[in-house]
Amino acid sequence: MIVCICRRISDRDIARHARAGMGFDEIQFELGVATQCGQCEACARDVVSQCSPSCPVANIQLADNPSVGKQWQTSIPV
Ligand code: FES
Repeated sequence: MIVCICRRISDRDIARHARAGMGFDEIQFELGVATQCGQCEACARDVVSQCSPSCPVANIQLADNPSVGKQWQTSIPV
């Protein structure tokens, strides 16, 4: 999915850099994400936080409720 339309940067591009240990500012400098209109900044920051090396499976959790069985969750409950 394209996150930054202005610079044509995908979530995969951002995730790859985040998994390499780069923070948002470094990725912004490297790729140019969120450097024009800025509409993509929140989404780009979400991708970075979900893909940081300290939290490699941030979006994958098993359901705790045994009545529904083990299901993959796509987001962390807030
Ligand atoms: S959409 Fe990313 S700077 Fe405009």
